[in-house]
Amino acid sequence: MDINWMFGLDDLTIVIAILLISLLVIRSLQSPLPPGPTGYPIVGSMPMMRKGNVLETFRRLRVKYGDVYSVQLGSTFTVVINGVDALNEAFVKNADQFSDRPDNFAVPHTLRGKGIGASSGEHWKQTRTFSLMTLRGFGFGRTILETKVKEEVTAYLDVIEEQKGRPYDAKELTRIAVSNIICSIAFGNRYDYNDEKFKHLTALLNENFRLNSVAGAIRQLPWLRFLPGDVFSIKKFQRNGDQIKEFANDQIADHRESLDENNPRDFIDAFIQQQRKHGQDHPIFEDNNLAAAIKDLFSAGTETTSAMIRWSILYLLHNKPVQDKLRQEIETVIGTSRLPSLADKPNMPYYEAFIMEVLRMGNIAPLSVGHGARTDIWFRGMVIPKGSVIIPNLDSVMSDPCLFEEPQKFNPERFLGKDGNVTGRKTMAIAFSLGRRMCLGQSLAKIEMFLFITALVQRFEFLPENSENLPSLEGIVGLSRTPSAYRFRAVKRY
Ligand code: HEM
Repeated sequence: MDINWMFGLDDLTIVIAILLISLLVIRSLQSPLPPGPTGYPIVGSMPMMRKGNVLETFRRLRVKYGDVYSVQLGSTFTVVINGVDALNEAFVKNADQFSDRPDNFAVPHTLRGKGIGASSGEHWKQTRTFSLMTLRGFGFGRTILETKVKEEVTAYLDVIEEQKGRPYDAKELTRIAVSNIICSIAFGNRYDYNDEKFKHLTALLNENFRLNSVAGAIRQLPWLRFLPGDVFSIKKFQRNGDQIKEFANDQIADHRESLDENNPRDFIDAFIQQQRKHGQDHPIFEDNNLAAAIKDLFSAGTETTSAMIRWSILYLLHNKPVQDKLRQEIETVIGTSRLPSLADKPNMPYYEAFIMEVLRMGNIAPLSVGHGARTDIWFRGMVIPKGSVIIPNLDSVMSDPCLFEEPQKFNPERFLGKDGNVTGRKTMAIAFSLGRRMCLGQSLAKIEMFLFITALVQRFEFLPENSENLPSLEGIVGLSRTPSAYRFRAVKRY
């Protein structure tokens, strides 16, 4: 019997089918893509990410597919890089190819590809270098910033003290206190903790960090905004982003009016000075690039450190012996008659071990910020196609049982050697990511965390609202990983 006839196929159809299959086979042999799950049409593997704990899903995929795998998320081909070796090989050794950002809908239209966090190539390099140098000139990440941070810490402690040991959720307060520090360096303002407008603005920021999740519609199916209503909160996300942009623009307008050319007060003044020198159309010193940089500093400088302070308090509530040990070190090195100073830090290995463990378990940037492939990238015998999003999976290090024994256990001692000295600093540096895009605010964050957390533990004993029912340690994963809302009782010690 003629088999072609039986299946209803003529010779031409068979030839075309064979050719197509051969082409696909040749292409996949020439450019093998990183392995990964197949996924569904349109949404790809998004449903898999939306069920349960997204970090757990990424961990399972690593076990199945190895250190470099891919997932189709909506229309985005996403490559996930896992483990210390592959992360270093990509983002440090091959930094020329791995240091760009993808096109990003999550950024307001006029700011796309601008500023520090969302730009790429030469534009990014120049903007980042200028920003860092200028911020350093105003004390960013340097000990001269200490006085300013201590003033904020004092005001912050006063509000906690006013609660008189009653159950209190310090989420909003912590966000504003931390934000005040970057705001004062970037545009010379600090805000009262009761300032309704600023409270609203930082709440919008928090909401957008939460909504901007790796497998959410905002990142992967942004065209859904054209549907009526706003089931996926995409329009809300855009509105929030626009309001934050407006806030940046208002700061710039105010500065332009009050600038004294010979006496720049802050980052915005220094930027406008350059703009006047190079012209308003200069690609780096134009207004939208300034607005984007301000928005980046304000966003990255608010949500991250404040989440770390809240994770620290949460772990202290769960681990009373750790709290006692930390306080003991504070009392031995600093005493109780003055606020902690940065000069105390080198003498406080237990604090160092504690904060490294909070960075590891709080895991506030588990999937870092997405990078992007501007061209096809060959990596470990595979091709990462142009246009892919590349995720540095920092969680793969933080939760690696080969690096950390019983990784689910909170144990600062793991970072203390037999001689009491701190170990594991190099591995934990990865909490701020690695390579050329490594966090720009790392030194500032470390200063803030030290001065806030040690002052808190020095002045108060932290107790749970209900010792029978401790607050959840489950994090909310969006762009960052923050603790769920909780209340504590802070009992004044002296
Ligand atoms: C504990 C606190 C913080 C952590 C864990 C953290 C972590 C990170 C991570 C993982 C990235 C992404 C790096 C990459 O793309 O691979 C990043 C980027 C960035 N961070 Fe932080 N961050 C913290 C605090 C801060 C602070 C206080 C600022 C202050 C301004 C800041 C400013 C930035 C900026 C501007 C970028 C973008 C850098 C670029 O794209 O070149 N961060 N941070």
